[in-house]
Amino acid sequence: MGDISVKVGSVNLKSPLILASGTCNFGRELAEFYDLSILGGISSKGLTIKPRAGNPGVRVAECDSGMLNSVGLQNPGVEYFIENDLDFMKNSGAAVIVNVAGHSYEDYIDMVKTLDPHKDKIDALEINLSCPNVKEGCMTIGSDPQAIKYITSELRKLTDLPLWIKLTPNVTDIKATALAAQAGGADAVVLINTLMGMRIDIRTRRPVLTNNTGGYSGPAVKPVAIRMVAECSQVLDIPIVGCGGIADYKDVLEFMIAGASAVEIGTACLVHPALPVDITADLEKYCSDNDLLLKDLTGTLQRW
Ligand code: SIN
Repeated sequence: MGDISVKVGSVNLKSPLILASGTCNFGRELAEFYDLSILGGISSKGLTIKPRAGNPGVRVAECDSGMLNSVGLQNPGVEYFIENDLDFMKNSGAAVIVNVAGHSYEDYIDMVKTLDPHKDKIDALEINLSCPNVKEGCMTIGSDPQAIKYITSELRKLTDLPLWIKLTPNVTDIKATALAAQAGGADAVVLINTLMGMRIDIRTRRPVLTNNTGGYSGPAVKPVAIRMVAECSQVLDIPIVGCGGIADYKDVLEFMIAGASAVEIGTACLVHPALPVDITADLEKYCSDNDLLLKDLTGTLQRW
């Protein structure tokens, strides 16, 4: 079978497939469906210093070709995660990516200070500057290149762990925010988090989601994500992890040709939890049939 191992900077992954943050909790529930060690990595649910109950009311809505979520960073808090979930992730055999969220610069700094002593169990910190469902931090910081550069450079001083900055597509110029992350000392960028959207109940004329808006994910966002990966690939020196609408092995190939070194998969696994098993087999077959190393596909886009 073909070689599908890849590298994201200094992080070696046995496969390009990473479970996207927020779509697998910490991976535990999925372990009953398949052996998680086939995965390149698992990205944890977005964690905060204090536990969060998340947003009240209706938090998900189906849409054509995708879904909206407004979970609001429900999570048990970073200390609980370290005590109860980090070892499970480490023992899964997949790389451990910890998604770090916050409402202020101080929150991100406290999070990295709390996680750094556990660095022997962590492969990368995914700094979530992109959740669209909270009023402060996250996407508010991640929409402003200066703020991205500032917080990335502050976090860089606190840890040697790879810093992957997860960016929002809800900006005019994704190159500007990606370049700001690079200038701040990021090791990689993750493109893209969800697109902000809304659905309306025509009977009540109220938004379906109690938070009014939510983040749109699923197959429909894939062309947006691929365009952003391709644009950033032309200007960045650091690697890109692609994310958005991946549902089969051909989607993975598209992202890698556009410039991604690895990919995250999420919404499609909510429909078919063991999908990574099929995609892994298909990628191995593709590499073997075409006599190539998957990692050599990254950034091979031939533009017109
Ligand atoms: C949420 O918890 O609201 C979604 C998290 C994210 O988009 O990063």
